[in-house]
Amino acid sequence: MNNKANLNVGNQNYEFECIKGSEDEVAIDISSLRGKTNVITIDPGFKNTGSCKSAITFLDGEKGILRYRGYSIEDLAEKADFLEVAYLLIFGNLPNQEKLDQFLFDIKENSIVDEDLKKILESFPKSAHPMGVLSSLTSALVSFNPSVSDLESKEEMYNAIVKILAKLPIIVAWVYRRAKGLPLDYGDYSLGYVENITKMMFKRPNKEYIQNDTIVSAINKLLILHADHEQNCSTSTVRIVGSSHAGLFASVSAGISALWGRLHGGANQAVIEMLEAIENDGGDTKKFMAKAKDKSDSFRLMGFGHRVYKNFDPRAKIIKVAADEVLKELGITDPILEIAKDLEKEALADPYFVDRKLYPNVDFYSGIIYKALEIPNEMFTVMFALGRLPGWIAQWKEMRENKEPIGRPRQIYIGEKYRDFLDLDLR
Ligand code: SDX
Repeated sequence: MNNKANLNVGNQNYEFECIKGSEDEVAIDISSLRGKTNVITIDPGFKNTGSCKSAITFLDGEKGILRYRGYSIEDLAEKADFLEVAYLLIFGNLPNQEKLDQFLFDIKENSIVDEDLKKILESFPKSAHPMGVLSSLTSALVSFNPSVSDLESKEEMYNAIVKILAKLPIIVAWVYRRAKGLPLDYGDYSLGYVENITKMMFKRPNKEYIQNDTIVSAINKLLILHADHEQNCSTSTVRIVGSSHAGLFASVSAGISALWGRLHGGANQAVIEMLEAIENDGGDTKKFMAKAKDKSDSFRLMGFGHRVYKNFDPRAKIIKVAADEVLKELGITDPILEIAKDLEKEALADPYFVDRKLYPNVDFYSGIIYKALEIPNEMFTVMFALGRLPGWIAQWKEMRENKEPIGRPRQIYIGEKYRDFLDLDLR
């Protein structure tokens, strides 16, 4: 392929360099476009626009491929521990035992949250959506950890990274337990990262906690599958907020708010609410399929479709198998799993979905596992955020290390042209 691109603007031809990535993706570098031509591009939703060069995650939407730092999501979900994957995403390679032990030790050493943060938590109404609480408390953490604001040195960056990896799970567990009216604690220093998250969330105050390996394994897999996904809406938010040199915690807080949206991470909650609505309506999936295809109806088949995947989302395939396994191991039969499978079968045979290449995405089956673990619907997206945290950190770190400029898109103005000011009594 020619490594140049030509563009005619008016009667002038302009030439631009093309860049090629390690997986042979090609981009036209238009960083000199406005200077050369005095015109800009416009691309609502950035469907055709790359924001950066990144070495963290590769996905091929046509082939349904997802890799973190070159490792396939299938291998990582099957063989890795979530903390290994977090280390891989953030530092670029899988850690050996010594590095993994040090990483976990440094996280444990920071796994305390100032007790005053509980006062902020308790000031929220119990009905508050957990994502709003999580975003607020993540931002509030800066006030109790001022050292995480200016991250100029590698050491400052590392300390902020282990701090947020240590403290976010505690806040997630506190948000979950407060919603259930349970006492808040800090888990168990002797446990591994995911084991401790599980214990912090599920420990009962009045009986010995017995770890359920099926639950730990399911949460480990789900966290890995959600850990990064290149330049999605919330990750792009984290990068652009961080590009102003706002701190890591403030940038992650912004990412949590972006993930909350029902078209993005909030879809996992919306999927379960949709499946429960279909069940309560008598299980007539065909009626809801018709609604999803009806342009006059705002209903969409939640958990279906993706900006990049025009094939099966590889994560959805893995989660679908895990959902069957977890329900079987926990001895649970959940009718909405069958409804989900019926919807998938019908959609994959329906020209509306086939023509638009709408397949199940990561959110379609994940809620069925969270529900089986007795996690409330409103906490599903919080679990997504917990998984996505290492990806946000890695992307933020890459953006700062690459010294990327502050993000500031242009626009095309379509408003009023110049007007003289009109005094109030003349309007
Ligand atoms: C995540 O980007 C990421 O990587 C995100 C994520 C991650 O890991 O970070 O993968 C996580 O956010 C997964 C997506 C979760 N969202 C949902 O499940 C919500 C339902 N899906 C849609 O809203 C939609 O598919 C999006 C938002 C996911 C993608 O939207 P696009 O790329 O902007 O596509 P579009 O809205 O332009 O749709 C194209 C066509 C339209 O029909 P036409 O105008 O061509 O006739 O497909 C239709 C849409 O109406 N369509 C759907 C549909 N999704 C798209 N029709 C019915 N049901 C749907 N779910």
